Amino acid sequence: MFRQFLLVVVAASALAATAASAADIAAGGTIVKQVCSACHDPSAWKGKTPAQIDALIHEVVAGKVMHPKKLTLSDAQMADVAAYWASVANH
Ligand code: HEC
Repeated sequence: MFRQFLLVVVAASALAATAASAADIAAGGTIVKQVCSACHDPSAWKGKTPAQIDALIHEVVAGKVMHPKKLTLSDAQMADVAAYWASVANH
């Protein structure tokens, strides 16, 4: 059962990664400013692609990575945040 759940999570991140080009960078920026930027400096994501950042956020939201704050974001919101962080970190 847990294994199946993990597979679904992995499949969902793959889907979100392919949809990353449709991500809304401005919407991601709003979420980051409201929720994440108190603790995260975007330079930490330097060299990472939106798909890599998206996968990391999925792990945090799924509770697989220790995180000081419980995150509740939809797949679309995670893709938006990943697109925003990648765009500010790599420019
Ligand atoms: C209360 C402070 C705090 C807030 C708010 C916060 N984070 Fe974090 N986050 C951390 C800390 C501390 C870590 C672990 C150290 C690190 O990797 O920076 C972490 C780790 C992560 C990681 C894993 C990084 C890695 O390389 O494994 C991701 C992804 C992440 N946070 C995403 C987010 C997102 C997205 C938001 C906003 C929706 C957010 N965080 C809000 C403190 C915070």
